[in-house]
Amino acid sequence: MSATFSSFLYLISAVCFIMALKGLSSAKTSRMGNLYGIIGMAIAILTTILSPAIASYSYILLGLGVGGTIGFIIAKKIQMTALPQLVAGFHSFVGLAAVFVAAAALFSPQAYGLGAAGSIKAASLVEMGLGAAIGAITFSGSLIAFGKLQGLIGGKPLSFKGQHQLNALLGGAILVLIIAFVMSESHFLFWLLTLTALALGFLLILPIGGADMPVVVSMLNSYSGWAAAGIGFTLNNHLLIITGALVGASGAILSYIMCKGMNRSIINVILGGFGTEANAASPTGASAAAQDRPVKVSSAEDAAFMLSNSRSAIIVPGYGMAVAQAQHALREMADILKKAGVKVRYAIHPVAGRMPGHMNVLLAEANVPYDDVLELEDINSDFGTTDVAFVIGANDITNPAAKSDASSPIYGMPILDVEKAKTVFFVKRSLASGYAGVDNELFYRDNTFMVLGDAKKVCEEIVKALNHS
Ligand code: TAP
Repeated sequence: MSATFSSFLYLISAVCFIMALKGLSSAKTSRMGNLYGIIGMAIAILTTILSPAIASYSYILLGLGVGGTIGFIIAKKIQMTALPQLVAGFHSFVGLAAVFVAAAALFSPQAYGLGAAGSIKAASLVEMGLGAAIGAITFSGSLIAFGKLQGLIGGKPLSFKGQHQLNALLGGAILVLIIAFVMSESHFLFWLLTLTALALGFLLILPIGGADMPVVVSMLNSYSGWAAAGIGFTLNNHLLIITGALVGASGAILSYIMCKGMNRSIINVILGGFGTEANAASPTGASAAAQDRPVKVSSAEDAAFMLSNSRSAIIVPGYGMAVAQAQHALREMADILKKAGVKVRYAIHPVAGRMPGHMNVLLAEANVPYDDVLELEDINSDFGTTDVAFVIGANDITNPAAKSDASSPIYGMPILDVEKAKTVFFVKRSLASGYAGVDNELFYRDNTFMVLGDAKKVCEEIVKALNHS
């Protein structure tokens, strides 16, 4: 295959990736977006494999076989709730790949068309240095993020005195080492640079609390994109540069959207502190002070009765719906109510669940019509004229402390105003707090009824009660 033709195919593949991102920006077009991504990747892999520069296929096929099998098994087994740590794990590999490619280019520059060892162009050395540094930070940072999200490392922020100064020192050392490496082409300096960047990756992510981890994962996603773009420059591969830049930019935008949804500054997230032990309520229930307050506990049958006798209901799903995998039973419940003439809609908070679009994906999987699913800004003003707010496995995203308590870690986060509905049902297993570890005062309000239990089981019981009424 000629170089011009492969460049042309790479261009088509890059356009497919852009169309994939465009498609993935809305639930309605996301399947199409995924398809574009698959086509783009298939074209990219085939073009690379058919390149005349490939001397032997054995290692490539071995890599595709082993990697493909592992990927297939993970994709089949992975739980929706474990996706954030899976993504973190995958980012670590992108970071490691960037380090390996930079090292390979340094050791065999001729193989990459970068000239002879000892006289590699300064521009290529800069790319290698930057690629290795960003790759190493991404690798170690993603490993820590994976460990925290998987519960292998405690989620609480680990901080010590002089931490920021040490990080600044390491950041400065990395810059100096890159300059020294470019001037000397020294292998020793390359490895010292990589080790320093690995240490910085660990230190940057360790102090960040569990609640901010999804933002961090998204930022590491962005870093991994820039690392891939760096590899693209080293390999003189335009597709890698374009896709790396796409991933880098989209990861950065996503981090920004998530921070906006939580009303947090990105600098604040990076410097850590949110979701600390001090903020966390007991995992088994509400804080001692809150436990003494009266709560109205209701049954699934009561909820079914209220819902079927209402004119309108807004369902507010959250992380607990994902844990319980309650989306199918929930849709069945909504279908019965709609048939009975109740106006049923779903309200989606931008940070409901544990990753952007978490609720949209689950509701789409359960075939909930897209037109019934509304974003916070489109539905929030309707709670005041709604009979029932049915909050299922959601907590923080409804917590009025975000508006009223300046000392609360969620202060400033926009919330769904469920308390304005005539009646509010909270379906959850206990009075425990949500991810941010903050008690929710709504549980104790006059118009709130708690339906305690697993979200899926409660929905199934409501469906049963509705069918028998
Ligand atoms: P949370 O505030 O974490 O509340 C989820 C609730 O679900 C918990 O209080 C839990 O109460 C309940 N639950 C868990 N398992 C359940 C089950 N099997 N059945 C029924 N209920 C169950 O979730 P949210 O309201 O979706 O808010 C999201 C939080 O994550 C916010 O604090 C947000 O800032 C944070 N966050 C989200 C993102 C993104 S991008 N989505 C990113 C970063 C941070 P029980 O234990 O009593 O059942």
